[in-house]
Amino acid sequence: MRVTSLSTLALTASTANALLRFSCSQLVVERLDPLVNPGIAPSPHVHQIVGGNAFNITMDPATPPPSQATCTTCQFADDFSNYWTAILYFRARNGSYIRVPQKPNVGFEQAAGGMTVYYSPYIGSRKSSVTAFKPGFRMLVGQQHYRTRQEAQKFRQLTYTCLQNMMTRTGETLDMPKQPCAAGIMSNVRFPTCWDGKNLDSPDHMAHIAYPTTGTFESGGPCPATHPVKIPQLFYEVIWDTTKFNNKALWPEDGSQPFVWSQGDATGFGNHGDYIFGWKDNALQIAMDSNCDFCPQLKSQSLAQGNKCTMSGHVREKVDGWLDAIPGLTPGIEHERSMNGSNTPKTDSVEGLI
Ligand SMILES: *[C@@H]1O[C@H](CO)[C@@H](O)[C@H](O)[C@H]1NC(C)=O
Ligand SMILES: *[C@@H]1O[C@H](CO)[C@@H](O)[C@H](O)[C@H]1NC(C)=O
Ligand SMILES: *[C@@H]1O[C@H](CO)[C@@H](O)[C@H](O)[C@H]1NC(C)=O
Repeated sequence: MRVTSLSTLALTASTANALLRFSCSQLVVERLDPLVNPGIAPSPHVHQIVGGNAFNITMDPATPPPSQATCTTCQFADDFSNYWTAILYFRARNGSYIRVPQKPNVGFEQAAGGMTVYYSPYIGSRKSSVTAFKPGFRMLVGQQHYRTRQEAQKFRQLTYTCLQNMMTRTGETLDMPKQPCAAGIMSNVRFPTCWDGKNLDSPDHMAHIAYPTTGTFESGGPCPATHPVKIPQLFYEVIWDTTKFNNKALWPEDGSQPFVWSQGDATGFGNHGDYIFGWKDNALQIAMDSNCDFCPQLKSQSLAQGNKCTMSGHVREKVDGWLDAIPGLTPGIEHERSMNGSNTPKTDSVEGLI
């Protein structure tokens, strides 16, 4: 599977195929989504956000993050972008929920939560020229309300890896793993790689980007005429430490799996990720042009320094510890949905656009 080759490539740190692979620790976990629900606090579901500390309830494209942020949780100190995904909850048999902790990826053992971020200019083993995102650029991939395989297939590379050990990079699935995963669950979020070349955003935050007409970026598929500009392959890996919930005696009596995305999705088909570009000046373009992996041209910082960039958050509510309901949702609603396949979450009216 070609999508696997990208992560395998990165793990083996091949110098012939340099790509940016770095860690961004957790900045904040809260119900905020300045891309889909600007100005709304709390937003419908909880996210974990990494990157620059300009993250806010509203983020005006006219004042991009580098002009507002004073620190970043990412290893590249000039990357003030914000990257976010939903978070995962474990549902106990008694109907209470607890947030699933995260664990660092291979090579980033000092990271405090967060995710691994990739930007790749590679098509297979061949470097391509790509156009870095422009100030004000933002995008979304995935639909938080999807609950069926058929829906999820509209996205090419939003997957899960059931980690047998920390190096497992095969066997990606579109749905949440159905059996306990010995080393945790990795969620993989790959964004489309073609841009219309004009719009920094679009009403659904996706229409300005597109997948190659065939295959994926990595398999060399050309961009469609409507979206002719090749952009870097942006890719998140998030590792959920599900290991302390692996005892099947804790799982639902009906045999279903117990993990639920914070938007109330126990199927996994609602996997999604958000991005607000925020690299300073042309640092990202330099990295993409110069075939560097650790990129000495770029200003970097240690994971420990990145961990120090935190923020108190804008929404005061409990997201950790045992909860009677997932923040923003009706208790038990996701369980019903996972059994019946598809249903309308109570929050859809707010997030109807995506
Ligand atoms: C968030 O936005 C508010 C209102 O514009 C502003 O007062 C505050 O300084 C911003 N916070 C950050 C961290 O940028
Ligand atoms: C529900 O079950 C969990 C796990 O056994 C337990 O820690 C928690 O206290 C229980 N919650 C309630 C409300 O009983
Ligand atoms: C789910 O299925 C159950 C059992 O068939 C039914 O009672 C319930 O109303 C369904 N829920 C939804 C939201 O369709």
